Amino acid sequence: MTDRLDAEAIAEGVLPALRPLLRRVRVLAQVDSTNSELQRLPAPERHAHVLLADRQIRGRGRRQRNWHSPAGGNIYMSLGWRFRNSQAPLSTLPLVVAVCACQALARAGLNNHGIKWPNDILTDGAKLAGILVEMQSLGNGHSTAVIGIGLNVHMPVREGEDPQQHIDRAWTDLRSHLPAGGMPVSRNQLAVYLLDQLLAAMDRFEHSGFDTFTAAWEKFDLLKGNPVVLDLDEGTVTGIARGINDDGELMVAIEDGRVCSFHSGEVRVFHEQASTVN
Ligand code: BTN
Repeated sequence: MTDRLDAEAIAEGVLPALRPLLRRVRVLAQVDSTNSELQRLPAPERHAHVLLADRQIRGRGRRQRNWHSPAGGNIYMSLGWRFRNSQAPLSTLPLVVAVCACQALARAGLNNHGIKWPNDILTDGAKLAGILVEMQSLGNGHSTAVIGIGLNVHMPVREGEDPQQHIDRAWTDLRSHLPAGGMPVSRNQLAVYLLDQLLAAMDRFEHSGFDTFTAAWEKFDLLKGNPVVLDLDEGTVTGIARGINDDGELMVAIEDGRVCSFHSGEVRVFHEQASTVN
């Protein structure tokens, strides 16, 4: 049996210097999607509002995918954030969130994880966490973001059921990668680690942009220098990943030597297990 999510313990666990940034932490036993639930609130109420659920009935992923969200072992968390005249292109926000998730996981003791652009968190080629950032423009240069993170901590497996039936790519959970298959870090503690990173990052991002995250991005970037296949709506591109540009787009050196940048698409890495063919 894994630990119970506890809103008070999470709010109190956040670093004292960051706690004033947080307005509300809520835990629900179940919801359709924590991102959808935050989006149903009026925009001013979303800011600095954290919502976790033990189970999501219609957990949503990027590119209209589902996010398998059974009860009892994982983290499904959304944070609302308002940006006022951000200095940074908000297109880089999903990448910042991926860096935050990786840093939180490192704090939890994981050391072989990284990011597959734009923001899949993988370990040993299998997906450990996913990020769904949904933006809404409020006019006058103001926007709100709902930042959703799904982290497989200890994937509940019902008898006779294989989670892979619900997940269209190779997946893993944190428990399988920490020493001796143990789980020394509780879900509440992991939520705290995620929030510590996110709260510190939001302020920095709004004022200084993506530049201050570049070094961390490069540390966790699993693609740079690797041969990749990029599935686009209009076809497939192959080449060598060359990192990202200032807008967070993936740069790929294609066969004729040109370097092209892409703002969306699904990347397959040649060494990724059970590659993400749709
Ligand atoms: C992806 O990799 O496709 C993104 C997955 C994002 C899942 C999280 S779980 C919390 C939040 N609520 C949702 O419905 N989705 C995000």
